Amino acid sequence: MPLHLTPEDARRYLESGEAPGPHLDLIGAMAAQAAAAGLRLGLFEALADGPVPLPGLAAALGADPAGLRVLLGALTATGYLTEGPGGYAPTAVARSLLGGYGNTLLFWQEVTAGLWGGLEESVRSGGRTADFYAWLGERPDVLARFQRLLREQAEWLGEEIVDAAPLPDGARRLLDLGGGHARYSIAYCRDRPGLRACVVDLPAALEAGRAATASAGLTGRVELLAGDVRGELPYRGQDAVLLFNLLHGFGEEEAAALVRAAVGTLRTGGIALVLERDPGHRGDAVARAFTSFFELNLHHTQGGRLHSPATVDGWLAAAGCPGTRRHVLTRSPAHVLTVATRA
Ligand SMILES: C[S@@+](CC[C@H](N)C(=O)[O-])C[C@H]1O[C@@H](n2cnc3c(N)ncnc32)[C@H](O)[C@@H]1O
Repeated sequence: MPLHLTPEDARRYLESGEAPGPHLDLIGAMAAQAAAAGLRLGLFEALADGPVPLPGLAAALGADPAGLRVLLGALTATGYLTEGPGGYAPTAVARSLLGGYGNTLLFWQEVTAGLWGGLEESVRSGGRTADFYAWLGERPDVLARFQRLLREQAEWLGEEIVDAAPLPDGARRLLDLGGGHARYSIAYCRDRPGLRACVVDLPAALEAGRAATASAGLTGRVELLAGDVRGELPYRGQDAVLLFNLLHGFGEEEAAALVRAAVGTLRTGGIALVLERDPGHRGDAVARAFTSFFELNLHHTQGGRLHSPATVDGWLAAAGCPGTRRHVLTRSPAHVLTVATRA
């Protein structure tokens, strides 16, 4: 975790230049690796019920006591653990890893360790130098973490989105492009008993959708179609098409073409819904930094970028959907939902 600096150290590292500020980033990067190792070892779970001394902890984790002592020292120095007479105990920061953030930390640690080498090459060339989805497809564990992140976000936002953007009266057909885990299709199908949905995504992503639709009892109403959304899209005459967190995986030209093709699947009066993280979102310093690094990952691993709501409006208008409605989601103010009707 970020080190707690005394005001004097903060001045020396962050303001006066007497000490190198980037040294703090180096320690932060090392701390993330150490916390990820702790998670994989089951360290934080083993400490969940109270302090445990080193020998007992090493036995419980099946770890070498000398190796574990060094890791515990690093995690204590960076604020994850405290050491007291009863042994090592987790701080509030470490407890957040057990409360769900552990999956997020492991996912991003794996992405940055596995894909961010050569970051400067994608900046120099302007094109991606890694392939996020191919890389994920070869790593079922990391893909499962990614799907869990998306699923949790969809379960949190789905209700608000269905309320904010109801489908046209009598809607019967919905196309969910890049909808992998199928949670948004499921939310709309639950809201509209007469609705059938088709999710189009890469084969690996559809595994999660298959399990979700089965457990929702919607196997017969949600079709899962493996395919590349940049190719010919299935179906015409749709009542609604979803482009949720999909456009940011592509550069401007491909994203605009995708919007055009998506609108082309709609009937007159059908609606296009676009959900994207807003690059102009003014959150706190942490939110601004995360959005910037999120976009850096898009550029480097997918050739993508965050497209502004105004840019998306322009693509929708050019595709035949003049006049859009925008909803900033109260459950995630960093996300904008754009709704447009095919004229
Ligand atoms: C960031 S996820 C968003 C998933 C879901 N729509 C959501 O909002 O939670 C992007 C999805 O697009 C899919 N995807 C990316 N490129 C694709 C392509 N060329 N063809 C089909 N699906 C693609 C990915 O597999 C992934 O499921």
